[in-house]
Amino acid sequence: MTRCYLPGRTKMRWLKAFILCLLALCVLLLLHHYKVLYHRLMVRELKASGNFKALRFLWTLPTGTHFLETGESHQDQVNMETDWGDQQPDEANGIPRTLPDPEGPSGELHKRSFRLGDDPTPYFVRTKSGASCFREGTKMDSPQLGDRGHEARMGGRKTLHAHQEETKGRSDLGKRPVQCVCRPGWHGPNCGIPTMVQHSNLPTKGRLVPRKVPRRVVNAININHEFDLLHARFHELADVVDLFLVCESNFTAYGGAKPLHFLHLLLNGTYNYVRHKLLYVFLDHFPQGGQQNGWIADDYLRTFLTQNGMSRVKGARPDDVFLIDDADEIPAREGVLFLKLYDGWTEPVSVHMRKSLYGFFWKQPGTLDILSACTVAMLFSVYKGDGISLRRREYYNMPGFRTYENRTGQMLLKWSIGSPVHYAGWHCSWCFRPDGIYYKLVSAQNGDFPRWGDYAEKRDLNYIKKLIQTGGWFDGTVGMYPSTDLKEPMFAPKYILKNFQRYKYLLQNPYF
Ligand SMILES: *[C@@H]1O[C@H](CO)[C@@H](O)[C@H](O)[C@H]1NC(C)=O
Ligand SMILES: *[C@@H]1O[C@H](CO)[C@@H](O)[C@H](O)[C@H]1NC(C)=O
Ligand SMILES: *[C@@H]1O[C@H](CO)[C@@H](O)[C@H](O)[C@H]1NC(C)=O
Repeated sequence: MTRCYLPGRTKMRWLKAFILCLLALCVLLLLHHYKVLYHRLMVRELKASGNFKALRFLWTLPTGTHFLETGESHQDQVNMETDWGDQQPDEANGIPRTLPDPEGPSGELHKRSFRLGDDPTPYFVRTKSGASCFREGTKMDSPQLGDRGHEARMGGRKTLHAHQEETKGRSDLGKRPVQCVCRPGWHGPNCGIPTMVQHSNLPTKGRLVPRKVPRRVVNAININHEFDLLHARFHELADVVDLFLVCESNFTAYGGAKPLHFLHLLLNGTYNYVRHKLLYVFLDHFPQGGQQNGWIADDYLRTFLTQNGMSRVKGARPDDVFLIDDADEIPAREGVLFLKLYDGWTEPVSVHMRKSLYGFFWKQPGTLDILSACTVAMLFSVYKGDGISLRRREYYNMPGFRTYENRTGQMLLKWSIGSPVHYAGWHCSWCFRPDGIYYKLVSAQNGDFPRWGDYAEKRDLNYIKKLIQTGGWFDGTVGMYPSTDLKEPMFAPKYILKNFQRYKYLLQNPYF
């Protein structure tokens, strides 16, 4: 009996499916005709909400534009081009060695505090049918939309119903129907998950939900003379990071005196485009034992940066993000933005960075995967407000960890943005011109042995040029690096690529 019964049911199903297909076809045709109408509606909707930026976004982005270009257009809002050339530390004159007059307009820069506000950027746009789509990751207008998008555009009840029927059983993305159509490089029901997270080892991908209010992101770095990479960082991240803590010391990592190059540039307007998001941290002493054991000095930089910096941040919330990098480690914007906009990821978080030497042209195998991000709650509950502990890998042994984990109510597992084949940032080692490398050699800490700065022949500029040319190292070995192509994805930060002439020395081997 059941055998006879089944084919009947199957026929019915086929019929249903056929009717559904016909319906879908009708809708498609209708949509084609109503495309113009839709545009008008959408524009009116956006106008009504006063969202003119979104309007510009809608009109200026051609269909199918690659997501990197969206990043660029975003950056333009922040990027007021400065004419800062290529600062050569040793040539600079009049660089301060101490802080400016405390009574003057720039006085007490190192004591000022910063109040974190909420980021008012409308990252998500609500469609007529109520879906919340990540603007940058969503195709707002596309002829090859699937039925999901059409439905979002029409907001028609019938279509919605048909769609729900269709996806029942095969979609477990939530009660709400899926309504955003993602641009290439973006994933998830709201199109806010970048590929570098989609292809990561995040164990909680199924639990990700967009936040109503973005987290605030604090990015802490120590700076010596990595000024070109600093521009690259600021342009990459300024629109998603709420505050940069930048720490400079008047001591080198070796313990010698050092002019305050960064302060000089900060005061002369070089970083005006990001100054409203910047807190200057000044390390005016050298840790005990730092001279004998360079690692003490090295670690202490991160400790001081975090403790002094965070003590001057007002209004931080437990779920805000703390991200600590070396100046030559630049996370890509998309990954940081994801941390900002989503709930449901675990911590601590590391970033797979593309590795290169002397520039982006000598690409090294593998990635540098550095633990560098966690919530403010974890920073203080587990790491005791010390950024160097975050960068070490033993969080699960830390005394506060189990209690903190218990409090969060979930298992906390370290995960990495990106993967060994999907870069989520750039680590550009020794990426300077020859004199910058010289400067790094002589100010290097005392502990990373052999200390090449101690050998006169290694400090020779012609020798350094030769290293850059061949991809060699101070120990005489030559890296067997693959040839690279400027066009490869994630070759270098967008700002560096965009300003090819100025940063050519980082993009193409200058001595080839
Ligand atoms: C760094 O600055 C502090 C405070 O102004 C000062 O006491 C110290 O001597 C300076 N160190 C060097 C090496 O100039
Ligand atoms: C700031 O100072 C640096 C180094 O002295 C110089 O190269 C640069 O042109 C100055 N920038 C501005 C905006 O004055
Ligand atoms: C976790 O929290 C629960 C309830 O708050 C408590 O009963 C339990 O002892 C805690 N466990 C640990 C390991 O702290």
